[in-house]
Amino acid sequence: MTLLSVKNLRVSFDTEAGLVEAVRGVSFSLGRERLGIVGESGSGKTMTGRSVLRLVRPPGRIEAEEMRFDGQDLMALSERDMRRLRGPRIAMVMQDPKYSLNPVMKVGDQLMEGLRQRDRLSRSEARAKAVAALEAVQIRDPERVLEAYPHELSGGMGQRVMIAMMLIPNPDLLIADEPTSALDVTVQAEVLSILDGLVRDRGMGLIFISHDLRLVARFCDRVLVMYKGRVVEELAARDLLAARHPYTQGLLNCLPRIGGDRGPLPGLDRNAEWAR
Ligand SMILES: Nc1ncnc2c1ncn2[C@@H]1O[C@H](COP(=O)(O)OP(=O)(O)OP(=O)(O)O)[C@@H](O)[C@H]1O
Ligand SMILES: [Mg+2]
Repeated sequence: MTLLSVKNLRVSFDTEAGLVEAVRGVSFSLGRERLGIVGESGSGKTMTGRSVLRLVRPPGRIEAEEMRFDGQDLMALSERDMRRLRGPRIAMVMQDPKYSLNPVMKVGDQLMEGLRQRDRLSRSEARAKAVAALEAVQIRDPERVLEAYPHELSGGMGQRVMIAMMLIPNPDLLIADEPTSALDVTVQAEVLSILDGLVRDRGMGLIFISHDLRLVARFCDRVLVMYKGRVVEELAARDLLAARHPYTQGLLNCLPRIGGDRGPLPGLDRNAEWAR
């Protein structure tokens, strides 16, 4: 079943230096599965994810032939209806949690806000749910974290708090932008298994944006490979490491090799044809 379908999505910024086309005609559909998006820095991964939530700030402009989520036309919804969708139905774990958590509000109050207001839970019920959510992302001292302000958390802790916060309302679609990049390998594995469980057991759809091709190959079902705002290749994740497209091969060649010599990273060959 299709949860999200995106046709010919474009994101552009009218800047003083001219028009920047960050996303140039991206199409894909997503069921209750794990879709990876990879590509070099600046290729448009984050803008693609934010567009689904219509969270691109001016002067950025989103256009699409179609952007449908669960039968609703996202391009036609009012800002008010979009706000109702963000969080409970579609959630996004942002690349940098520092900018998504409110710096002057305790973590616990942020986690409990939706539970209190949207779900009308009492303070103690909301607190218990917040603790459970933090424990689910392997935070071992949830009580301390609830009382902390975002700047008191390490990058990895901030990322886990963000993931907990996004999962509390049980979204149908989660867009995770480099969600595990600041986590050590064991915590990363635990967080991925939580996301995996949600896709498998609750039928959540997941868009997983990452620089880590090996991780995406292992963890996702399908992958979009982006270059300069376009999808140059779409393939089954298990085929990613053996991809034929020269750009994807270039990305693979940039992966550091375990046990390999630490020479300079190979340059990425670029071909104007891929961006057409
Ligand atoms: N406010 C803005 N004004 C102009 N251009 C912008 C703005 N925000 C983003 N862009 C451009 O949009 C393009 C895509 O950016 P995006 O953040 O989606 O890349 P990305 O693939 O997520 O990169 P990274 O891997 O570094 O996170 C980039 O070329 C970027 O310079
Ligand atoms: Mg990004």
